[in-house]
Amino acid sequence: MEKIIEYIKSNESRYLDELKVLLAIPSISTLDANKPDIERCAAHLADHLKNIGMSQTKIFPTAGHPIVYSEWLGVPGRPTILIYGHYDVQPVDPLDLWTSPPFKGTVRGGNLYARGASDDKGQVFIHLKSIESFMKNGGSLPVNIKMIIEGEEEIGSEHLEIFVNDNKKLLSADLVLISDTSMFAKGIPSVCYGLRGLSYMQINLVGPGKDLHSGSFGGSVHNPIQALSEMIAQLHDKNGRVTIPHFYDSVRPISKKERDSYRKLPWNDKKYAAELGVKALYGEKGYSTIERLWARPTLECNGIWGGFTGEGAKTVLPSRASAKLSMRLVPDQKADRIAKLFERHMRKIAPKTVTITLQNLHGGEPAITPIDSPGVRAAVAALEKGFGKKPLYQRDGGSIPIVVQFKQLLGLDSVLLGFGLPDENSHAPNEFLNMENFYGGIRTSAHFYNELPNYMKKRKKR
Ligand code: BES
Ligand code: MN
Ligand code: MN
Repeated sequence: MEKIIEYIKSNESRYLDELKVLLAIPSISTLDANKPDIERCAAHLADHLKNIGMSQTKIFPTAGHPIVYSEWLGVPGRPTILIYGHYDVQPVDPLDLWTSPPFKGTVRGGNLYARGASDDKGQVFIHLKSIESFMKNGGSLPVNIKMIIEGEEEIGSEHLEIFVNDNKKLLSADLVLISDTSMFAKGIPSVCYGLRGLSYMQINLVGPGKDLHSGSFGGSVHNPIQALSEMIAQLHDKNGRVTIPHFYDSVRPISKKERDSYRKLPWNDKKYAAELGVKALYGEKGYSTIERLWARPTLECNGIWGGFTGEGAKTVLPSRASAKLSMRLVPDQKADRIAKLFERHMRKIAPKTVTITLQNLHGGEPAITPIDSPGVRAAVAALEKGFGKKPLYQRDGGSIPIVVQFKQLLGLDSVLLGFGLPDENSHAPNEFLNMENFYGGIRTSAHFYNELPNYMKKRKKR
């Protein structure tokens, strides 16, 4: 391993330059205009995988964006890791808030700034460089590796689910390894064992059949923006709880053991509030901030629109109003069930004065993975070696819907080995990846590949 770690060290600046090339491709999955960039990004990754010595690499087209598959199965009898990541990124607007261009990787203060730097191209690249470091030093890996890098994670992984279902044999492995989450904090590595799910809805209200003069008609009809606001305002009670009937029915209570472990984590609400620029924190009464973030469900309004929002004033009583609302889910809530409860409740509280339509935009199931598996134990050992510090166990508030499908379709648990930071601006302007985490991530991944066979063997002996 010494040789590998040394090789990583002496190639750091080249690795960084190569990552910048990947980050320069604007592979935004949600925008039709960027479809050619999506294709180009998949091709670029496939080329790169061939160059670092993977034995088979193939781009699988889908009805949506292509999936890059690659494998190296040179050590039969050793464990096989299925590495998952995504090459698609979120849109970059508002562009004027970026300090440097989003698709030009720029180093400032030890961080590499670019869209996708952390979510998830940078973290995918960590594995490519870790693989390369072995291949360039003996032409072999300590484990077999299969890899899928998809282009639709940020839009719900619709076609990946079909792909996984159709290719169970191709994807057979001992465990899934995912680097698409965050460490607890800078200098505090962690293994993640839980993710929230998601149910994403849109609601549209129509009041009068056309926009009206607010003087001639105001006072005679219910403004749909007002009606929508009244509905949304009812969705939380004074304790910050979601008011949708049965919303909490299948929420798994947080065990005493988990609560105790959360309490021991280094956390400061005041500092957290200051970092976010809020005057005070808000959330469900009776739970700590960490509990609310990781182990309790929420409902958020992501956007609301209608009427006149241009420059100056226009006295209009609008015909329509809409909002996008999403709910983060925890075990054992089910996305479909929650979507139904939401729809039923919105229909019930909608005033007679408006017509409503609802759209279920997408969803994903919450996940919790075992923390005593050989994979997690290997990850703990690898993080300790890669970052020189024992990692914490944590959950995270975000969602990676495919994690549950890997379990259901392939029977595989995922090891969530994330190298991002909670404040790295993912999905927002000025996304970055801390460079220490980039290099530490490459070292840690290398240690993980190297350690895993030891932990798998130990289990088999018992
Ligand atoms: N990498 C994130 C998920 C994530 C974020 C995990 C923060 C842990 C901490 C992923 O790319 C993502 O953004 N997922 C979406 C899922 C969705 C579009 C179905 C999310 O969480 O909003
Ligand atoms: Mn991601
Ligand atoms: Mn994301």
